[in-house]
Amino acid sequence: MAGFSFRRSYQHYAFYLVNSLFILLISFFLDDTHARIVNVGGNCDFYKGSWVYDESYPLYDSLQCPFIPGDFHCVANGCDPPRFDGLDFVKRFKGKKIMFVGDSISNNQWVSFACMIHAAIPNANFTTYHGIPMASINFTDPDHNISILFNHKPFLVELEEIPERILKIDNHKPFLVELEEITERILKIDTISTGDPWKEVDVVIFNTWHWWFHKGKIQHWDKIHEGNKTYKDIDDRLAAFAKGLTTWSTWVDNNIDPKKTQVFYQGISPTHPKGNEWGFPHTTCADHRTPINGTTYPGIPEPGVAVLKEVLSKMSNPVILLDVTTMSQLRKDAHPSYYTNQGRTLRDCGHWCVAGVPDTWNRLLYASIVCWPETRTHRIDMNLPILIT
Ligand SMILES: *[C@@H]1O[C@H](CO)[C@@H](O)[C@H](O)[C@H]1NC(C)=O
Ligand SMILES: *[C@@H]1O[C@H](CO)[C@@H](O)[C@H](O)[C@H]1NC(C)=O
Ligand SMILES: *[C@@H]1O[C@H](CO)[C@@H](O)[C@H](O)[C@H]1NC(C)=O
Ligand SMILES: *[C@@H]1O[C@H](CO)[C@@H](O)[C@H](O)[C@H]1NC(C)=O
Ligand SMILES: *[C@@H]1O[C@H](CO)[C@@H](O)[C@H](O)[C@H]1NC(C)=O
Repeated sequence: MAGFSFRRSYQHYAFYLVNSLFILLISFFLDDTHARIVNVGGNCDFYKGSWVYDESYPLYDSLQCPFIPGDFHCVANGCDPPRFDGLDFVKRFKGKKIMFVGDSISNNQWVSFACMIHAAIPNANFTTYHGIPMASINFTDPDHNISILFNHKPFLVELEEIPERILKIDNHKPFLVELEEITERILKIDTISTGDPWKEVDVVIFNTWHWWFHKGKIQHWDKIHEGNKTYKDIDDRLAAFAKGLTTWSTWVDNNIDPKKTQVFYQGISPTHPKGNEWGFPHTTCADHRTPINGTTYPGIPEPGVAVLKEVLSKMSNPVILLDVTTMSQLRKDAHPSYYTNQGRTLRDCGHWCVAGVPDTWNRLLYASIVCWPETRTHRIDMNLPILIT
């Protein structure tokens, strides 16, 4: 199955977050009309901590982990996040669907999630379909009947390819005018028209981020369409991201029934192309084999996080943010670059090895799902080590 690479090398790179460090929790308190993000902070800051080397921790084998209690009384347990229990998840979600929507980082988390489920039910039958934009990994046994879906939708808003005819004038033959067919890519920044499948699933995890910042040859649009206007570009890409994200948040508030579908946002996934951010100039992620010590990233904070939290805070749908940015910033060592290309001609410091950091995101996703009723009205209190691969 796709995504199982790095398991061997990564068996020696398992880490856990220790509880003596703080635990960060973004939780949502609901009142009748409005949801807002509440950063509970204090000793229960679920997403903060440091990575600790732990050779004893086997990959995708959390059931064997002796350190974690196995029940789900999220609030009663003090500060204890439930472990990822794939069997429990499959039982809870029998006949149901979970969908990751977004870019290749969403794909990363989707693959990790499917691996974690597969590890829990290794003998279960499954089918895979790697379609674009919709892909699926379905476990099909009657008792283990769950769909794990991926919708490739890197902007969440619509990117349309519109065929267009332009006049082609060849300077060497000025009297011969031809019509040439080209494709124009229009980013419809205020439009979501293909979101129907998102309403039909039980859990949906959205993400959009890095495509907004691609410029030059790798830019994904030719023009932007907004209202009745089409224009060339938005120079301030963070502003463009905010606009697209607001289109998404409005769509979710108007279209997704929170009683049927739990909505999550993946959080901004950091990249590590420049070692000067963490004190190692002239290096990239490919030169690093260990996480950054401690609980804070020495580089500049990711400005998108504030934009994201601002947009989420205005939503009426109780969307839960997987606030993974800081913890992932500490993992400069966890990108595929070093492992896939030791010659270092190609340095992927954006995606993540699987098994690896996305497993941790999925553990937090699982904890949030299991604790869902509590996360709506209480904080999730957590107090034991978070085991991380
Ligand atoms: C899986 O679950 C769905 C919904 O409960 C049901 O319609 C379908 O028949 C199930 N499939 C199998 C193979 O059990
Ligand atoms: C997996 O299940 C989904 C519905 O949950 C369905 O749309 C998709 O076609 C299925 N994929 C395969 C490969 O059977
Ligand atoms: C998996 O599928 C095979 C072939 O259809 C079937 O014989 C087997 O019982 C299935 N496994 C389970 C655990 O249901
Ligand atoms: C677009 O133009 C139409 C017709 O002129 C108008 O009715 C509509 O309100 C406009 N929409 C927006 C978003 O400006
Ligand atoms: C990080 O911590 C480890 C263990 O305490 C230590 O061996 C290592 O030198 C530290 N690395 C840096 C860059 O401070």
